[in-house]
Amino acid sequence: MTQRTLVLLKPDAVRRALVGEILGRIERKAGWTITALELRTLDRPILEQHYAEHVGRPFYEPLVEFMASGPVVALIVEGERVIEGVRQLAGPTDPIAAAPGSIRGDFGVIVRENLIHASDSEESAEREVKIFFPGRA
Ligand code: CMP
Repeated sequence: MTQRTLVLLKPDAVRRALVGEILGRIERKAGWTITALELRTLDRPILEQHYAEHVGRPFYEPLVEFMASGPVVALIVEGERVIEGVRQLAGPTDPIAAAPGSIRGDFGVIVRENLIHASDSEESAEREVKIFFPGRA
């Protein structure tokens, strides 16, 4: 099943010069293609849209602040079962719970600064692609 997903390499990944490493892992999956890619500093309005489901949670404000703290790399990846696949590559939200071999398991420690975001469903992917790449909607 060919799908597309919206991926963000978070400010910690850019600051720590892990962009090439993480993009490499995505690129090496057979048949997946990066079809859009942009380095961009996110402002509050776009983050409020992106994280609308988390408004009111205790981690929301620090999360928005962190996500606006430096540039991110936003990309669209297309390919076979790519939504589930990128989330597998990323590992679970808490990097300490993430297995070695996953992006978060190999490089992360802090829950908020967990290096990568990837859409969690086809509905989220379509919503998030519209937010970050309105021309590709
Ligand atoms: P992500 O799954 O990409 O989107 C929601 C983000 O909120 C998540 O990654 C983490 O960066 C952050 N997050 C989720 N739960 C917590 C938490 N308990 N404490 C701090 N940050 C969190």
